[in-house]
Amino acid sequence: MTSYNLPNAKAVFIHDNLDDLSLAVAQRIAELASQAIAAHGVFHVALAGGETPRRCYEKLRHLPVDWTHVQVYFGDERCLPVGDSQRNDRMAGEALLEHIAIPPGNLHTIPAELGAHEAAARYAAVLEQAMPLDLVLLGMGEDGHTASLFPDSPAMASAAPVVAVFDAPKPPTERVSLGMRTLNAARCKIFLITGAGKRGALEQIASGKLLPAAHVAAAEWHLDCAALPA
Ligand code: 6PG
Repeated sequence: MTSYNLPNAKAVFIHDNLDDLSLAVAQRIAELASQAIAAHGVFHVALAGGETPRRCYEKLRHLPVDWTHVQVYFGDERCLPVGDSQRNDRMAGEALLEHIAIPPGNLHTIPAELGAHEAAARYAAVLEQAMPLDLVLLGMGEDGHTASLFPDSPAMASAAPVVAVFDAPKPPTERVSLGMRTLNAARCKIFLITGAGKRGALEQIASGKLLPAAHVAAAEWHLDCAALPA
């Protein structure tokens, strides 16, 4: 299958495998960074969590990006202690941030260790200086969640720029997430979705079901063949 229709998508890219997808998205990120820096002197990017983006971040290390003009944010964070192996900023650090010459002041982690309410309030103030983000990277869970916005969660209905989540079905239950309005305000949104486990959610979205990921408008969806319906 060389094409796949997703309502509300700006574009859908099908890649043979995770490695090809990861390189293509890394190259797209570098391209968007160059364009944003040329246009307004800075590239504000929110990184995705989970495991899928790891290889993309590893490849991004080696691409020509002017990191001194990049401000890094996070799409969501799990309410775990700083340095916990399950934190999204830990994965991004291991895969990318510890390997590039980015000024420490350019890294804006979510203080999720403070608890969801406090962290969401503080991060909203940090994010205010960056809106609209130039790029938001997003994953999608098997239930169609994105960032830490889960199906039927009150957080989905919030207009807040950053939301506190206490009912996440994917552990840990307490998280902090950019709100859907913030995600949609970004100049560019890119999904990275791989593996057969995501087929069901993709099929539901393709048939019109408004799972959380489907609420993100005009995104670039990067899928690997394994994630497509058989
Ligand atoms: C998280 C992520 C979440 C993730 C999806 C996909 O904190 O878990 O923000 O939204 O992107 O659950 O996760 P995988 O990439 O590991 O499949």
